[in-house]
Amino acid sequence: MVTSIDGATTVAGRSGGLGGIGDRQVFQALRGLSDMILVGAGTVRAEGYRPPRDPVDSVASRRSADRRAPKPRLVVVSGSLNLDPTLPLFAENDLGDPAPLVATVSSSPASRWAALEQVAELVVCGETLVDLTGLLATLSDIGARTVVCEGGPHLNYQLFAAGLVDELCVSISPTLVGGLSLGGRGLLDGPNLAVPIRLRLHRVLSEDGFLFCRYLVS
Ligand SMILES: NC(=O)c1ccc[n+]([C@@H]2O[C@H](COP(=O)([O-])OP(=O)(O)OC[C@H]3O[C@@H](n4cnc5c(N)ncnc54)[C@H](OP(=O)(O)O)[C@@H]3O)[C@@H](O)[C@H]2O)c1
Repeated sequence: MVTSIDGATTVAGRSGGLGGIGDRQVFQALRGLSDMILVGAGTVRAEGYRPPRDPVDSVASRRSADRRAPKPRLVVVSGSLNLDPTLPLFAENDLGDPAPLVATVSSSPASRWAALEQVAELVVCGETLVDLTGLLATLSDIGARTVVCEGGPHLNYQLFAAGLVDELCVSISPTLVGGLSLGGRGLLDGPNLAVPIRLRLHRVLSEDGFLFCRYLVS
């Protein structure tokens, strides 16, 4: 995740206004280390997600040495299945790559299944809400050792609240945005956690005014 100094995660509804060159490098590096990229449907709809790119040579050889697939697979969480099958995420997926996974619920509208099934693999994990613990177990069963969640705040909240997060990588952009009291989103979108989660700062890098922080959940 990238945030402003005052904790906002979007500018005009997207994260792009907060990013920078180093932040995008960190983003690609984290993708390069992952087997699956987990993302909420709200982020897919807002950010115009695309399939993961071919990794640069150094990442490709590391992936091969680590016995990972050449590219991570996208996993979208959506209860409503309100996802346009013509989105680049689906339509531009390379033929040789596995289709994105869409984790959904048994109560999702049947009318949306047919079109999405043409472009994605649908997995049911719950009746009205996707059971994220069950979903991560399913991803593990199909070979995922490292799952990187790219947000958004609503999905982040549930993952932290369910105790499913090992570490948080957050880029702090040298930017002030405001608006958090008027509906702007912070890192976690949900009610107060039952107990605040204490993180351990493991590493900080800095470039061009950005701080890149890696926290461990201990
Ligand atoms: N700064 C950053 O690094 C960053 C990163 C990511 C996103 N963002 C921003 O965050 C915003 C989107 O975040 P968001 O919090 O609104 O959305 P989100 O967390 O990306 O996605 C929320 C959606 O995911 C689905 N979902 C999540 N948990 C679910 C569950 N347990 N069961 C069923 N469905 C579930 C639902 O989709 P359905 O509605 O389809 O049921 C829900 O509406 C965008 O503006 C984006 O630009 C910023």
